[in-house]
Amino acid sequence: MPAYAVIGAQWGDEGKGKIIDFLAENAAVIARYSGGNNAGHTVINDAGTFKLHLVPSGICWPHAMNVIGNGVVVDPDVLLKEINENDLDPSRLAVSDRAHLIMPYHISLDQLEEQRRGDAKIGTTGRGVGPAYIDKVSRQGLRVGELLDPEDLTLRLPAIVAFKNEIITKIYGGDPIELNAVFEKANMWAGQLAPYIRPVENLIADALESDGKVIIEGAQGALLDLDHGTYPYVTSSNPTVGGTLTGLGMGPRSYGGVAGVFKAYCTRVGEGPFPSEIHGEEGDSIREQAGEFGTTTGRARRIGWFDAVAGRYSARVNGFDAMIITKLDILDGWEEVNICVAYEIDGVRTEQFPVDAVTLDRAKPIYETHPGWTESTRSITKNSELNDGARAYIHRLEELIGVPTKILSTGPRREETLVIEDFLA
Ligand code: GDP
Ligand code: IMO
Ligand code: MG
Repeated sequence: MPAYAVIGAQWGDEGKGKIIDFLAENAAVIARYSGGNNAGHTVINDAGTFKLHLVPSGICWPHAMNVIGNGVVVDPDVLLKEINENDLDPSRLAVSDRAHLIMPYHISLDQLEEQRRGDAKIGTTGRGVGPAYIDKVSRQGLRVGELLDPEDLTLRLPAIVAFKNEIITKIYGGDPIELNAVFEKANMWAGQLAPYIRPVENLIADALESDGKVIIEGAQGALLDLDHGTYPYVTSSNPTVGGTLTGLGMGPRSYGGVAGVFKAYCTRVGEGPFPSEIHGEEGDSIREQAGEFGTTTGRARRIGWFDAVAGRYSARVNGFDAMIITKLDILDGWEEVNICVAYEIDGVRTEQFPVDAVTLDRAKPIYETHPGWTESTRSITKNSELNDGARAYIHRLEELIGVPTKILSTGPRREETLVIEDFLA
């Protein structure tokens, strides 16, 4: 059976966790391929409310195998917390031996570097994700599988920690990391994580060759992608579709579908250009109404109108064949809704998304205003229950993005979902 990717199409927090939990009912495998515990995915169903940072959002289905792929960076403290909180045994969770570790010095360095940047800060989540990817690329990283090889760790760790401490103390004036404490942590991690650590490529390949559906769970969003996002205000991995292949070790022919999850409006956490941002009281009231506060850091999310220029770009770089639109219910009762259909940059209208952050920062949104709708879309599950105003809005988004909508999300709970066409068919 094929694989289906569900990818954040904006700046993250589009509601990927909710959608994955909904789709995973008949999935054999749900796999994360990039990012780390900078992600925060909220899942709400009859079993409760789950705020997941590292383990995939398929954990509420007892039959499914959840996979953390090699492209993810893993903070073992966070992983063990989620394993324990959710009673996950190795028959339900596998962690790639080649995923890189987020070590205590990565967390220090992330926070120290943000302080150093001052006004030019990125607004990272401070979880050590960027520094862990830096070490991966510079070939100084430690991989999850190395926890199982104490001899290797004994050989490598002292030199790595000594070097990191030079940087922490001499460049940033921070407090050094204690080598013994790191060793102790690594021993504890090894003991508790060993049963979960394995190569995951075969597991996914076997599921694809048998009857199992494989759902690939995006973290972050296309506009935070290291290559395709609004650099340098991005994360340090590739949330876009290309990241799924390297981050899990699978081929492109495995795909049955690639869906982009779009919020019915936009949000962004952290710094960086956001042309359709709604400033002031209007933005504040939407944030309160929609509960737009970060799942990971609790920070207030910036609010904006749906940006179709950015959305079309996102659809292109990912090759989306389906849109999943979430939080439609939040727009209920608004007198008017705006869609950003073009930008004006230095007096010139454009429908192209300038990825360069400096240019994008000068982009002024050009809006198309649509009448709102008074009828509630909250909790509706049937196409026939969708009111004309909301339907017209969705149609217009489809037209602008150039991709059909297959699922509408009408509330945070699993069952508050309207399937227009089966994405997993
Ligand atoms: P993710 O990072 O993409 O998984 O998204 P988050 O979980 O960080 O943020 C999405 C928030 O919106 C969560 O609090 C969800 O419970 C909530 N949510 C998801 N879908 C809907 C929806 O259709 N309507 C409403 N009102 N809330 C939703
Ligand atoms: P989910 O999976 C929203 C943002 C941070 C910051 C930038 C870099 O829940 O959608 P990092 O810690 O990754 O180095 O921070 O990326 N960011 C997210 N924003 N949702 C996320 O994940 C994010 N993960 C990172 O706020 O602007
Ligand atoms: Mg989130």
